[in-house]
Amino acid sequence: MALQLGDLAPDFEADTTEGHIRLHEWLGNSWGVLFSHPKDFTPVCTTELGYTAKLKPEFDRRGVKVIGLSVDPLDAHRRWSKDIEETQGFAPNFPMIADPDRKIANLYGMIHPNASDTLTVRSAFIIGPDKKIKLSINYPASTGRNFDEILRVIDSLQLTAKHQVATPVNWKNGEDVIIVPSVSDDDARKKYPEGWKAAKPYLRIVPQPKS
Ligand code: BEZ
Repeated sequence: MALQLGDLAPDFEADTTEGHIRLHEWLGNSWGVLFSHPKDFTPVCTTELGYTAKLKPEFDRRGVKVIGLSVDPLDAHRRWSKDIEETQGFAPNFPMIADPDRKIANLYGMIHPNASDTLTVRSAFIIGPDKKIKLSINYPASTGRNFDEILRVIDSLQLTAKHQVATPVNWKNGEDVIIVPSVSDDDARKKYPEGWKAAKPYLRIVPQPKS
């Protein structure tokens, strides 16, 4: 069965461009983003990896470790990194897993045989400090992902892990949030003595709590 939200992210050992790792040990207490791309030396993947490298300070600021994966070998990852730097202005500054036997790709359901028997789709998993899967997405090879959206989800996840709130449609860090339905009005009044805007009793809006 496919991995689902709340499942433990399976641990694995892998050879990466930054050495041999064991996922859980490498993550430590950090959040993580594990993402697959179909193939080295391909155009969409080149743009995705360059942009993710550019975002490294944003991931660092949020305490998130990023790791990429494809079924190509390490020497291809290393040669391709130079092209990524040349064309995108940033070389991958995070480990890239070589998974030529597709062991990890199969473990994480990154190969969708009706899309391609041999290549991974564009999967991404956000993994919490508890090693549980907090988000999973699968995009087709022809559509590059929006890594700003992945950062936005991390902002939401980190906020909602600390406070009893949820984030509304198209929310961005700093904008108003929603008090979750499981919090009674009595309890909400203790937390938000200034009150909230309520378009409906179940739709209670408050400013984003300070972290
Ligand atoms: C790409 O990254 O451009 C790509 C990779 C595999 C199939 C199609 C496109």
